Amino acid sequence: MSFLSQTLARVKPSPTIAITGLARELAAQGKDIISLSAGEPDFDTPEHIREAAKAAIDAGHTRYTAVDGMPELKAAICQKFKRENGLDYTPAQITVGTGGKQILYNAFMATLNPGDEVIIPAPYWVSYPDMVLLAGGTPVFAEATMQNGYRLTPEALEAAITPRTKWVIMNSPSNPTGAGYTREHLQALTDVLMRHPHVWVLADDIYEHLVFDDFTFVTPAQVQPALKDRTLTMNGVSKAYAMTGWRIGYGAGPVELIKAMAKLQSQSTSNPSSISQYAALAALEGPQDYIAESRAVFERRRNLVVEGLNACPGIVCPVPEGAFYVYPSIRDLIGKTSAGGTLISDDESFATALLHETGVAVVFGAAFGLSPHFRISYATSDEVLTDACARIRQFCEGLR
Ligand SMILES: Cc1ncc(COP(=O)(O)O)c(C=O)c1O
Repeated sequence: MSFLSQTLARVKPSPTIAITGLARELAAQGKDIISLSAGEPDFDTPEHIREAAKAAIDAGHTRYTAVDGMPELKAAICQKFKRENGLDYTPAQITVGTGGKQILYNAFMATLNPGDEVIIPAPYWVSYPDMVLLAGGTPVFAEATMQNGYRLTPEALEAAITPRTKWVIMNSPSNPTGAGYTREHLQALTDVLMRHPHVWVLADDIYEHLVFDDFTFVTPAQVQPALKDRTLTMNGVSKAYAMTGWRIGYGAGPVELIKAMAKLQSQSTSNPSSISQYAALAALEGPQDYIAESRAVFERRRNLVVEGLNACPGIVCPVPEGAFYVYPSIRDLIGKTSAGGTLISDDESFATALLHETGVAVVFGAAFGLSPHFRISYATSDEVLTDACARIRQFCEGLR
């Protein structure tokens, strides 16, 4: 019998491991590799936030804090929800964890029993299904196709709901597609949920501030206030303030759920880093200029990448509303053979051949549950993106 737990056996090895491993191997061999797989802004954390962290150390804020966040930070998060989302929460309805990831994990661990289902729109962020499986639940996938703007439709949601459904995950703008849900899109989904009072909403708003053109971000509890009592609204500082390494995420929801999540956290990690909490406080309460600045840069890069990819024969790249990803289709390339002699039978063979023959590392769609596509993260410089698009174009032009 294995020494390792049966819980761990529920989690499949990540399909992205093969391609990232290969990229690393080729780079170690001295090949010129461009990796477009990172899930984080390429900017430094704004200076006033870094200074606040240094000041926190010097002021001796280096001890345990309240398990799920210090009161000052919870108050700042309540103000954030009021200011930016028009949502009223009290500090007792707020929980702070080590990244948005811990908030999601706590929520599933605190609520799922064997057989409980969680509806996950596909394509999805790779961690959702595995977190649900680790917590003993069952992921139920509902397709969000390119034809529907990569958004879950009310019909697909309705069809996925069963008496065992506990949560539906909503992620706007989305990783991996960048798709954003307008108020009208969300309203159509919340109308469905109003007919199914046993289903809770997990709103993953981590990309809230990365929205482009005239897109207006909205969150489910704001669109349908009657759902607020069964919604966990999750957010964090990672993507909004280029703070991925600081590990601060937060959630807002009904007190009973928040208390249960804190109970779990008290016996696992306890409080997130005290220094990071002071940094997050400075991020939420300080000047917000960084948000508009980074948004402008990402919008320019998005335009560059969408244009570059649509110039590649056989690639169709929709224009995403937000985040820093594009999720083009390669349907027209399936069945072709690359200049290097590889048959493109699916998106994995496309990504592998692209990496071998051009040095560009992308993540294939099967990893996110919708094929045949691939994901590019454009959180890198214009020069790198221009080079990558030129290489991808050459690769596509060489397909026979
Ligand atoms: C969709 C989505 N949700 C949540 C997270 C978690 O972010 P963090 O744990 O850094 O707050 C990520 C990070 O990549 C993400 O892409």
